[in-house]
Amino acid sequence: MTFQFLVLNRYFSSSPAMAAAIKNVTVIGGGLMGSGIAQVAAQTGHRVTVVEVNENAIEKAKNGIQNSLQRVAKKLYKDKPADAETFVKETLSRLHTSLDLKDAVKDTDLVVEAIVENLDLKHKLFSTIDSVAPNHTIFASNTSSLSIQDIASVTKRKDRFGGLHFFNPVPVMKLLEVIRIPETSDETYEKMTAWGKALGKTTITCKDTPGFVVNRLLVPLLAEAVRMLERGDATARDIDTAMKLGASHPMGPFELADYVGNDTTKFILDGWHQKYPDVELFKPIPLLTKLVEEGKLGLKTGEGFYKYDKGTK
Ligand code: CAA
Ligand code: NAD
Repeated sequence: MTFQFLVLNRYFSSSPAMAAAIKNVTVIGGGLMGSGIAQVAAQTGHRVTVVEVNENAIEKAKNGIQNSLQRVAKKLYKDKPADAETFVKETLSRLHTSLDLKDAVKDTDLVVEAIVENLDLKHKLFSTIDSVAPNHTIFASNTSSLSIQDIASVTKRKDRFGGLHFFNPVPVMKLLEVIRIPETSDETYEKMTAWGKALGKTTITCKDTPGFVVNRLLVPLLAEAVRMLERGDATARDIDTAMKLGASHPMGPFELADYVGNDTTKFILDGWHQKYPDVELFKPIPLLTKLVEEGKLGLKTGEGFYKYDKGTK
């Protein structure tokens, strides 16, 4: 046995990263983000179960994943339609759906929660599954803005809890923010980071701070754009054009707000406003409130700051 082998052997048997890798994943919530996370996990060889609240939501998630997978396949296998078809078929064979939350976590290595941005609902969910999921199962939230420590507080597995914050559209965006709370064990952190890499994402690490890195910078930008529109400084179209051509952003702030969902942006700002009432940037914006009250949530409802035709991507 060579010295090199001994060293490697010691590393492999003791490194947290080499502890049993994540194979079975349960994604709770099959909306915009959950379906993207499930798709990418299945594409990269994981067995995935998506949990939703009713058949309608399951159908919607399945259709969304099918459409997105076709786009990925077209890009990966441009001139090889047979390979593209195999890729889609094999990915779908690893994807399952369920309405039974407890059953869906009983044999899983990782739970990624992607339900609506509401602390009470997230608490209810995690307290339900904490006593059912196996001991080794890691719990993660994809929250955009809530504190991971607040979410984890209802569980008895804070050492196996963290944040995995993906970006929309998940199949395209290359970043994954990995959030650890003080109790997150090294093994959990290493496993979450290794899983992110297995999904083909570049990971960065951030403390459990409001909005982590990207949203702490991006959401105030969206909020300021809405305030600019409210004041009548410029039209939504001109503000979008300005940021695309003047700052090289791929989407203007109103296109992005409609893409993310105006309800999500409002949930984020309202939560931060409650926690930090003196911060001007987080104060409620009447125009955003009005749009949400009118159900103009953006692309997902067909209207937000802009109107969308059926079938718009
Ligand atoms: N699934 C799979 N592939 C997709 C896709 C999806 N949902 N969306 C885009 N693509 C791929 C496809 O290959 C597509 O080609 P086809 O149209 O031929 O299928 C290709 O990307 C190009 O897409 P588009 O022509 O629609 O447009 P685009 O070139 O402008 O790219 C975009 C679209 C990637 C969304 C780009 O506009 C962009 O990067 N926008 C900014 C997105 C962003 O900032 N996201 C972060 C939001 S914040 C967040 O997510 C955090 C939070 O907590 C709120
Ligand atoms: P969404 O409204 O598109 O999807 C949420 C889904 O969760 C819905 O389909 C709903 O039926 C389902 N759901 C609600 N309660 C459930 C429960 N108890 N069990 C199972 N399913 C349940 O929302 P989204 O945009 O996908 O956001 C989900 C989470 O991801 C939020 O925490 C949000 O802040 C975060 N996030 C959103 C974005 C974005 O761009 N929209 C980006 C990153 C993170």
